Parts: sequence; structure tokens; C-alpha cells
Amino acid sequence: MTKKLLICYGTRYGTTTGIVQEIEKTAEAIGADVSVVELQKKLPDINVDDYDIVIIGSAIQAGRWKKEPLEFIKKNIETLSTTKVALFVVCGDAGDPQRCGFAQEEYLDKIVELFPTLNVISTGLFGGMFDFKRYSFPVRALVKRIIKSRLPEGEELPEKMDFRDWDMIREWTRDLVEA
Ligand SMILES: Cc1cc2nc3c(=O)[nH]c(=O)nc-3n(C[C@H](O)[C@H](O)[C@H](O)COP(=O)(O)O)c2cc1C
Repeated sequence: MTKKLLICYGTRYGTTTGIVQEIEKTAEAIGADVSVVELQKKLPDINVDDYDIVIIGSAIQAGRWKKEPLEFIKKNIETLSTTKVALFVVCGDAGDPQRCGFAQEEYLDKIVELFPTLNVISTGLFGGMFDFKRYSFPVRALVKRIIKSRLPEGEELPEKMDFRDWDMIREWTRDLVEA
């Protein structure tokens, strides 16, 4: 039977949207029926139990999920304790092997702990992008300073740092849909 998937997510600068599009394309290619909702301030009324798997994702900013996907979980917590749930985050730390463990714990495991009744069957930790020219001047200065402090002395920052691993995103999606 065709699996019905719902993907709900929050983004600030749009990288997460591109990753959601890849998840959608990959799932559809193996026969899933996929609905996608970018969560805005006013949360949509969705019958979450119409779906076999609900994927909830967020961009990470200053160590946190966006508010909207967290609110979406709270709003639907009862149904999401029986429906299968997958969580994913898009962040900079996932692009740094030394920070992946920290990112998994802080951005995913802690959310699973925060909502112990949530029926989480999978988590995905995906690298995003630092696209410095898209940020306001103060944000750019702050983020550049943080990233630079983690680079070897004297190494210049490029205009863009792209940590997206499309193979990993596609593999995670296929494992989830085919499970
Ligand atoms: C102001 C700012 C703060 C960020 N803070 C973090 C952070 O605390 N941890 C992290 O891993 N990545 C952090 N990032 C990287 C973002 O998670 C990354 O750019 C991601 O691709 C953003 O997704 P979006 O384009 O969908 O908003 C930050 C980026 C910005 C611009």
C-alpha cells in the first residue's frame, strides 16, 4: 500500500526547504505519497493521523530549533504518540566531524527527551550552509567570528560553506520509507 508521508518544517534562510525538497523527491521516487508544509506563525490544522509517517524538521539557530516545529509537536503530541515520527535538523555543526556528536545530543536527543511520549522511529542530522552574504551585517559579523575561531590560524573564510550531503539525505529517506 502507498505510504502517506507528511513533512512539516521550519526554516530561517531556506536551506532546510531545499533539503525537504530532496526528501520529498526521494520518497516519491519509491512510491510514497508526500505532503509538505512549511510551518509559519499560524500553525495549520492538519489531521496528523491521516499519515503513516510524520517527518518534523528544523533549522538550528543559536543552538535551538525554530519555534514553529516545536509548537507543531506540542499541538499534535497525542496523535504523534501513536503515529510514526521522524525528526531531523539542518545545522552547521553536522558539517564538522568534531561537533557531530554534540549536535546529535543537543539538537535531536534532547528533543526526544523533551517529548518522551513522541513515537520517534528515526532522527536525521543534516549539514546545512553558511551563506554569509544572505545575513544582515551584524549576523554575518557574529557568525563569521564564531566560525573563524574554529578554523586553523590564518585560514580564510569562504563566502559560502556548504555542508549538505545529498547521498546521506537520500539514504535516510529511503531507510525511513522502506522500514
Ligand atoms: C545566526 C545563525 C546562528 C546559527 N547557529 C547555529 C548553531 O548554534 N549550531 C549549528 O549547528 N548551526 C548554526 N547555524 C547554522 C545553520 O543551522 C545553517 O546555516 C542552516 O543551514 C540554516 O538553515 P536554514 O537556511 O533553513 O535557516 C547558525 C546560522 C546562523 C545564520
